[in-house]
Amino acid sequence: MTTDHLTITPSILYFGTPVALLSTENEDGSFNLAPMSSAWALGQVVVLGLGGESQTAHNLAARPDLVINLPEPGQWTAVERLAPLTGRDPVPERKRGAFRHEPAKFEAAGLRPEPSETVRPPRAAGCPLQLEARAARIRPDLTGMFQVIEAHVLRVHADPRIVVPGTQHVDPSAWSPLIYNFRHYFGLGEELGHTFRSETAPGRLTARGA
Ligand SMILES: Cc1cc2nc3c(=O)[nH]c(=O)nc-3n(C[C@H](O)[C@H](O)[C@H](O)COP(=O)(O)O)c2cc1C
Repeated sequence: MTTDHLTITPSILYFGTPVALLSTENEDGSFNLAPMSSAWALGQVVVLGLGGESQTAHNLAARPDLVINLPEPGQWTAVERLAPLTGRDPVPERKRGAFRHEPAKFEAAGLRPEPSETVRPPRAAGCPLQLEARAARIRPDLTGMFQVIEAHVLRVHADPRIVVPGTQHVDPSAWSPLIYNFRHYFGLGEELGHTFRSETAPGRLTARGA
């Protein structure tokens, strides 16, 4: 441990995770779309952290189907158009002043909905990766403010631009997530290297993944 670090108390710990746009079904059969970034994959499960007052968390508790849409860096303005919006009506007390209710989130973002294959909520066309999924387990976090949701991925749609031709692999040099880094948006920098288990490194590609 170095001795020159400062002890700080940051208000948030969003240390840089990919942005996802979650599409879910509202009570009335319309669809919600909400940005989030507390998401990570465990095999074919994606773990999501959602504010308990969000429309998305309410939707998933009642209708577990969702699509985890992953935008690329150039789409950050569409994500930010959704940032001050909530599908919840009335707007929860804590969000008043900063957020407004918006029932038509796809239109507000300027993103086109396209039908999914295994779930009811649509995919966000233009997002290079779209994961159709179902919330299989939902439980409150330690503080009671968030819900921790384990979503089983049922189908993966990938823009052909980011797939290694003839294989099932996403090409890490072609795909770049949009990163949410302490509330600022970033893309990826240049590749630094790869782990010993990479299946897409030069000379490693086999038909196994095909
Ligand atoms: C880039 C970005 C990342 C966010 N990450 C999360 C998150 O991980 N979890 C969460 O609950 N809210 C997150 N939010 C805030 C939600 O988008 C916000 O609460 C929104 O109103 C939820 O919409 P809904 O109520 O229609 O579901 C994020 C917002 C932005 C712009």
